[in-house]
Amino acid sequence: MKKQVKKAATLFLLACVTMMSCDTSKKESEKNMIEKVSFGKTTDGQETELYTLKNAAGMEVKISNFGGTVVSWTAPNNKGVYEDVILGCDSVAGYNKGVPYFGALIGRYGNRIANGKFTLEGKEYTLAQNNGVNALHGGLKGFDKVLWTATPIEGEEPALKLTYTAKDGEEGYPGNLSVEVVYTLQKNNALKIDYKATTDKTTIINLTNHTYFNLNGNLDSDILDHEVTLNADKFLPVDKTLIPTGELKPVTGNVFDFLKSKKISAGINDTTDTQIKAGGGYDHCWVLTDSSKTLKPAATVYEPKSGRVLEVFTTEPAIQFYTGNFLNGTIKGKNGIIYKHRSGLCLETQHYPDSPNKPAFPSTVLKPNETYQTTTVYKFSAK
Ligand code: GLA
Repeated sequence: MKKQVKKAATLFLLACVTMMSCDTSKKESEKNMIEKVSFGKTTDGQETELYTLKNAAGMEVKISNFGGTVVSWTAPNNKGVYEDVILGCDSVAGYNKGVPYFGALIGRYGNRIANGKFTLEGKEYTLAQNNGVNALHGGLKGFDKVLWTATPIEGEEPALKLTYTAKDGEEGYPGNLSVEVVYTLQKNNALKIDYKATTDKTTIINLTNHTYFNLNGNLDSDILDHEVTLNADKFLPVDKTLIPTGELKPVTGNVFDFLKSKKISAGINDTTDTQIKAGGGYDHCWVLTDSSKTLKPAATVYEPKSGRVLEVFTTEPAIQFYTGNFLNGTIKGKNGIIYKHRSGLCLETQHYPDSPNKPAFPSTVLKPNETYQTTTVYKFSAK
């Protein structure tokens, strides 16, 4: 009798363990399910969506099909606490009010084109002058303001595929351009962005992402204490309108040297430097020392209070390091936080600004039958 009771108890226990393990595995797979919720309406009344990508480690990245915008992104501090580390808005209404490209996909041409003009195969093209006399970040309605078609791809490394076809002549650029961007949340707390595009007419292209990072975990703070390394031995000096002069200047001996980790505050207010003056801080393109098209380390950011580390890898030849100098405390972001001056920093992997007007710069021309393809990875850890 005793034996039978023992056997029944063992069987019961076994059943419980099996049920429990089934339950846990169910929860595991649920963890990686991509959630989709409404993100509100665009100014012209179109519905937008917000997708949540989660990995098993606990990272959560929210991306909207509006502008392919990364809206929030949690990363662990050195105590394992996940907090949001990027600037953004609670719904599309915030973006509709006009924000400086928070988290957005940038195209067809990232950064500036002088006087909004360029010549390609003997023909002159005119773009909107939406930044003083220059064209900036794809125009009045660049890729940051369009609705992308989103396809969630579930799995251990969940992904969101976004596609958009820019029409021939859209924002003044030639060629129907089919763009595909895939955001993949990897197991190791990295977000990989794969960009791909083809055209039916010769055009120019320079795609990037404009996320503003603040590794503090408190978005109501500035980024001046962040320590930055840029694997770049040259940068592009700019004129007063932030167009590169054409010179590739060595960083050694000036405040643009981030070859070794350095606090942003060390040089950002050095107004004796004419380049810092021009940018109102750092707003320049650094030329990576390794010019190969392989995925290589480009930048590292360390925030000493939280211990968070962000590493950036890219196949691109350059990186625009922008310290949020134009943020001036007029934008209310997520959870009612006002984004102050320099409360976020951007690491926009890219080709050089104004390349279409600078024949000596690496080419940004895309021809029919060619495929534009680049990858950038943003990886978080803590120490
Ligand atoms: C880029 C530019 C900056 C600024 C921001 C958006 O980083 O280089 O000058 O326009 O985008 O405000």
